[in-house]
Amino acid sequence: MATSCSIFDKERNTHKVVERLEALEKKEDLHKPSFATQMILMQSHYTNMRLALQRKNYPLLRYHTSKLQELFVLTNLLHPTFPTVKDPIWQYYITHLDTPLESLKEDADNKSLSSASENFSKVTNACNKCHQQANVAFIAIK
Ligand code: HEC
Repeated sequence: MATSCSIFDKERNTHKVVERLEALEKKEDLHKPSFATQMILMQSHYTNMRLALQRKNYPLLRYHTSKLQELFVLTNLLHPTFPTVKDPIWQYYITHLDTPLESLKEDADNKSLSSASENFSKVTNACNKCHQQANVAFIAIK
């Protein structure tokens, strides 16, 4: 029986090539932020939006709102789908998040606190609804 390092074992040799390709693929994946990493970044913008709202810092609210939107664009490019999420990420974003986020930017421009609070709640619900659908309801955004 050929040893694992035998180059004469045709089958094992093929296996080594496959192994090497898999290793290279994984290495490439290391450079690609995971979906969860994107989520952690989202959490950061989200928290800053909440703080900006509490402090009535409207330029800051607008800033983090548009950064969150940009992050969704990027997340969608990196991960157009995610195994546990039923809809394509972009579709979920358009259906549940784009309108409240666009409105939040307008609210920030108009310094409209009550409307901003309402739209912010819609964002919170949209985050959590996806978590529920993806069986990670324990990740409850507040
Ligand atoms: C389209 C679905 C979807 C939307 C929208 C979504 N999430 Fe997530 N989120 C997920 C999934 C799925 C996971 C679990 C990822 C995994 O299993 O690796 C997750 C995980 C997280 C995590 C945990 C990350 C970690 O591993 O530490 C945080 C924090 C988070 N989301 C924040 C948010 C916030 C804030 C929003 C809204 C601005 C949001 N998410 C919107 C699907 C979504």
